[in-house]
Amino acid sequence: MTKTENHILVIFGASGDLTYRKLVPALFDLYVQKLLPERSAILGVSRTKLTDEAFRDKMNKGIQNFANFGKEHRSKVNNFLKSIFYQSLNTFEPEEYAVLKERLELIDEDLGTNGNYLYYLSTPPNLYKIIPENLAAHKLNRQGRSKSWKRIIIEKPFGYDLDSGRSLNRDLLKFFKEDQLYRIDHYLGKETVQNLLVTRFSNGIFEPLWNRNYIHHVEITTSESIGVEGRGGYYDGSGALRDMVQNHLLQVAALVAMEPPTTIEATSIRNETMKVFQSLRPLSDHNVRNHVIRGQYTAARIRGKQMIGYREEKGVDPSSRTETYVALKYFIDNWRWGGVPFYIRTGKALPTRVSEVVIHFKPTPHALFADNKDFFNNGNILVIRIQPDEGILLKFGMKVPGAGFEVKNVNMDFHYSDLQQTYVPSAYERLLLDAMLGDATLYARGDAVETAWAFVQPILDYWEEDQHAALYGYPAGTWGPDVADQLIAEPEITWRYPCRNLAEDGVYCEL
Ligand code: BG6
Repeated sequence: MTKTENHILVIFGASGDLTYRKLVPALFDLYVQKLLPERSAILGVSRTKLTDEAFRDKMNKGIQNFANFGKEHRSKVNNFLKSIFYQSLNTFEPEEYAVLKERLELIDEDLGTNGNYLYYLSTPPNLYKIIPENLAAHKLNRQGRSKSWKRIIIEKPFGYDLDSGRSLNRDLLKFFKEDQLYRIDHYLGKETVQNLLVTRFSNGIFEPLWNRNYIHHVEITTSESIGVEGRGGYYDGSGALRDMVQNHLLQVAALVAMEPPTTIEATSIRNETMKVFQSLRPLSDHNVRNHVIRGQYTAARIRGKQMIGYREEKGVDPSSRTETYVALKYFIDNWRWGGVPFYIRTGKALPTRVSEVVIHFKPTPHALFADNKDFFNNGNILVIRIQPDEGILLKFGMKVPGAGFEVKNVNMDFHYSDLQQTYVPSAYERLLLDAMLGDATLYARGDAVETAWAFVQPILDYWEEDQHAALYGYPAGTWGPDVADQLIAEPEITWRYPCRNLAEDGVYCEL
């Protein structure tokens, strides 16, 4: 593997949860695996006044609690912490970037990191223009002299709708070039999401079947059992469509649907996923009315415990019409997928946390064993489990031993956990490492982000314009509104329900 070059990682918004829970623990895990360069530093930046020591203490706790290797490699933690620094800064104030520049130059000189800076914006989106602009004003975006590089990682949301998504891209491109921009979609960092590419393109057996001739429909689910968990303020202005569908789910669906890339490199893969986005059939108002279901969770008792409804969550408007669930049917108009429906759904406060892609193969042309209607309709499915219990499951029919020809659905099931010695890195480990290496394959490209916005925009417009557009309540702990079943308008075919409803009471209603 190529080696990472010496550099300084500058995390803006370093006093936030993401740095503490995800970024620094992931960096520590990379350090333990000797994947960080010989000389590197992390400079945390945020408004809070903190000393290097106080910041290190906090990061130490994050590592102990959240790093994969935190517990067993305590002795290495102290060494790792020495490479962490902190700079308090009011990011809104242009003059303060001079202080940042000075600090960076000091660390750079001290460590010999060759002016390579990787910026990470883990801040509210209203700073996505201000920070790059001020970095540029202090020439902190300049590459060049002695081959030093500057890269910038941005967390979603990449805009709020098509217009703001476009204008964010325009703003970013004023200060950084596209190849310096790394738009993080942490789903692309998940091992099993990448395994989609390997499953499809390294096995001769799947790819010939991977098209409209053999696939009946594709189903993608990302469910969460938690509610909005203290993020009500952010979430109420966003909703499931913006929070999950526009990015994570459409990206995963693009990997399922893309043509084989020429090489396994960024440009090639991103070109192919872009073509999928360009082939998404635009949604008319009629489609939005009939093919998009939105829901919002209501209070319910789950295993004897009361869960509050979305409208009672802190930071949420008590009359909010923000969706915590969305299910959607759409088509990809190209040669491979013509006529094959894609169904995606995601929601909070559902019965379990699961992300999976389910490929439903067509039944045999003739139901020879006609008693087995169930198998005929629901027979061959390939389930790619993204999380938890990462793995792959293939269902197929077998004869029940004995008289007659009774068919039974059986499983061929692979679990990553069976590979005892395989370490599955976290998404942030993989993505941070890739950005250090300058590999943007698993990062979203600007044009793809815009095209994904263009696809969901008619839904946003419809909901905005028609304040009475249906919003269904579903009791927390259930699989979302019942009407979502009607999206799959074929008898005996339903969504795959990896576990039962949990709610003991509560009613399905239109809100
Ligand atoms: C984030 C969303 O991007 O993804 C959250 O903002 C969501 O609302 C999270 O909970 C889900 O990620 P994961 O990795 O836990 O499936």
